[in-house]
Amino acid sequence: MKKEISFTLNNEKVMVEVDPKWTLLHVIREVLEMTGTKEGCGYGECGACTVIVDGKAVDSCLYPVMEAEGKVITTIEGLAAKTGGLDPVQAAFVKEGAIQCGFCIPGMIMSAKALLDEKPAPSDDEIKESIEGNLCRCTGYVKILDAVKSIAGGR
Ligand code: FES
Ligand code: FES
Repeated sequence: MKKEISFTLNNEKVMVEVDPKWTLLHVIREVLEMTGTKEGCGYGECGACTVIVDGKAVDSCLYPVMEAEGKVITTIEGLAAKTGGLDPVQAAFVKEGAIQCGFCIPGMIMSAKALLDEKPAPSDDEIKESIEGNLCRCTGYVKILDAVKSIAGGR
């Protein structure tokens, strides 16, 4: 039986009917039709589905939707909306040439964004740790790390 839950998504309150068995990823992509958040592995291994929940980066494919009740959730679509242009993290990825096929990039950016929001001047090791759960099959990671480092602490 479906239940109604509400949460804040990209600065807007949403109410949605869900099957309690669904994941947050399913609701974001299939019910709310926000497809910037990607489904890669579907079981917590690739980070493509990363969103920010109450300030923390989480794998939305493992996140039971019922736990989203009352939470503040940001997806990749919410970053650009705040500024009217690209978020600084997105702009850094473009500037550093960190994007190839792009499939992993929303998740990478959300992981980096959660870190930088909590700690604006992270160390190189902290940057690596923040994206260690995000797999990229294209870039070799160097440019991705360069992009995050380029805006860490105003470097
Ligand atoms: S789709 Fe969620 S971790 Fe891979
Ligand atoms: S840019 Fe293709 S998977 Fe990362």
